[in-house]
Amino acid sequence: MEISTFPTSESASIYVAECIAENMRAKAVENSHLVLGLATGSSPLLLYKELVRMHKEEDLNFENVITFNLDEYYPMPKKSAKSYYAFMHNQLFNHVNIKPQNIHLFDGTFPASKIDSFCDTYDQKIIEAGGIDFQILGIGRTGHIGFNEPGSSEDSCTRLVDLNEITRKDAASDFGDLQKVPSKAITMGIESILKANKIYLLAWGAEKAEVIRKCFLEEVTSKLPASYLQEQRNVELILDPAAAKLIQSNLIEN
Ligand code: GLP
Repeated sequence: MEISTFPTSESASIYVAECIAENMRAKAVENSHLVLGLATGSSPLLLYKELVRMHKEEDLNFENVITFNLDEYYPMPKKSAKSYYAFMHNQLFNHVNIKPQNIHLFDGTFPASKIDSFCDTYDQKIIEAGGIDFQILGIGRTGHIGFNEPGSSEDSCTRLVDLNEITRKDAASDFGDLQKVPSKAITMGIESILKANKIYLLAWGAEKAEVIRKCFLEEVTSKLPASYLQEQRNVELILDPAAAKLIQSNLIEN
């Protein structure tokens, strides 16, 4: 695992966008496709903004991009403004030339009885696409990645999960009221995430400093699922100074 810190979340996001864009262009030359694993939340917003800018101002072409999103609340209609479906379309997909058939998002209206087979199919589709080239992650206060809450095992696959109460409280402002936050979600599993060729975990601000310290300086534990990333060579933590405050001695300055 590599830890990189940048002067601002904006410069950090531009660095990640440039890495992705460079690989998109290289894949296009090979007439091949690039597979992105995408996250929601506030952490990847500037990354998506920069990718949209590159598309509009530098002709960055999304025709050869395939995406798989990390998670979705359950139940959750696509049309809801709170859905990750809406988030991804508003922040990225509506502004670039990605092919709709190349976008993979969880359907938060899928009948509960069919979710297991839907999740298996999702993991299978990632394999069929050739695996994820770049996985973008944020981190929750519980140490979750995607919605893999404390207790998630390292070999977990895509599945329906119960949300931790801390996660629900953190989402309450988005929903206006804690009671309105769904108690379940569908998430890509830890195993599916760890299979990606390269993983960028983005974290900004002082409120992430303690969870970053616990997950990446203490022992690997299922109590903090992001700590599984410590053991991976292909992981780069992308931090601003505030998020990196408690792990300063391990930093590579950019
Ligand atoms: C939600 C998402 C996670 C995300 C986390 C952190 O729980 N399901 O994928 O990483 O929030 O969000 P933020 O980036 O807003 O801090």
